[in-house]
Amino acid sequence: MEDYTAWTDEVIGKIRLKMAWSSEKNKNKIPYTTNEYGEYDDKADTSREWRIDDGINWWTNGFWAGIQWLLYQDTGEERYKEIARISERMLEQCFSGFYGLHHDVGFMFVPAAVADYRLTGNDDSRKAGMHAANLLAGRFNPAGRFIRAWNDLEQDTRGWVIIDCMMNLSLLYWAWEESGDPRFKHIAMMHADTVMKYFVRPDGSVNHLVEFDPVTGEQVRCYGGQGYEEGSAWARGQGWALYGFMISYLHTGKNDYLDTARKIAQYCVSNIPESGILPLDFRQPKEPAYEDSCGACVIAGGLLEFARCASANEREIYLRAAVKILRAIADERADFDDSCDAIVKGCSAAYHSPAHDMTMNYADYFFIEAVYKLKGTGKLLW
Ligand code: GLY
Repeated sequence: MEDYTAWTDEVIGKIRLKMAWSSEKNKNKIPYTTNEYGEYDDKADTSREWRIDDGINWWTNGFWAGIQWLLYQDTGEERYKEIARISERMLEQCFSGFYGLHHDVGFMFVPAAVADYRLTGNDDSRKAGMHAANLLAGRFNPAGRFIRAWNDLEQDTRGWVIIDCMMNLSLLYWAWEESGDPRFKHIAMMHADTVMKYFVRPDGSVNHLVEFDPVTGEQVRCYGGQGYEEGSAWARGQGWALYGFMISYLHTGKNDYLDTARKIAQYCVSNIPESGILPLDFRQPKEPAYEDSCGACVIAGGLLEFARCASANEREIYLRAAVKILRAIADERADFDDSCDAIVKGCSAAYHSPAHDMTMNYADYFFIEAVYKLKGTGKLLW
């Protein structure tokens, strides 16, 4: 098996240098993306008017703290813990608003409060994590055995489920392991089973959005969501599915989840271009050639988790694929200098949105996490 130590050490050195100043500079913000001057925005800015699901309720708000916890695990430096906690305290304000919260309390609280509790045993963080887990469990629809994604803003979304929620299940598994209350695990597993049945196609590609009848629980239809169209294969959705089924497998040991992750991993690996730069959607037209570095980093993280659990024969294939993606990001899409607060460039929000070629705090999170995974250091925070 190839030794990646020299490469990971080199990249980790660059990450440390970059995050030392960027974390300090942005310590009182909850950033999402950078502007044309390379400066981070601030989702915790209370002087602005936000849509109800934006601002402090924005779904990526846990990743800034998450980056700090990754660096804290790596360096042991107290300042990363302090910056993560500034972020956590700001983020907890979302609980009092309530109406703006959605299924992504998993994405918001796992890399922040739950990571804090896992690494330091901080009881305030445990409380925040349990509170978020109860909100997530409260979104479960027993008729359809699914977790509702969003609230009604422009339309009736009572029966809408998205593949991304596979990552949110991590919060429920943690709450189950922490409290001993199996309701959290039952809900997570019923949702994962529904996703296995209605989202994962025989070739290992996945639907982004499936609508169910919220009263009877029957499937209504599928949508293309953030991908190109219905039936296409949104790369970041493939990543959420792959990494998400690995999380379900790691917490429950249910082999169906590992087999499902394998199918999705095979689809991803057979569609990685020679360049290692991933398209936004594996089934998008040749032009415009939108790409998504963020989806690439999520897929790399999922492949590394899968490789750890795969048979000796398969391990090398998935490890190499993950490394190919990460090298392409590090060599072609990463900014390690001081002209931009973020590292990973070339991210896209959605195929049909104008937001392409941007930075995203969670692309940085999953890139940094994947490099540490490859190095073999740090606890799994999911
Ligand atoms: N969870 C939404 C996204 O991946 O853009």
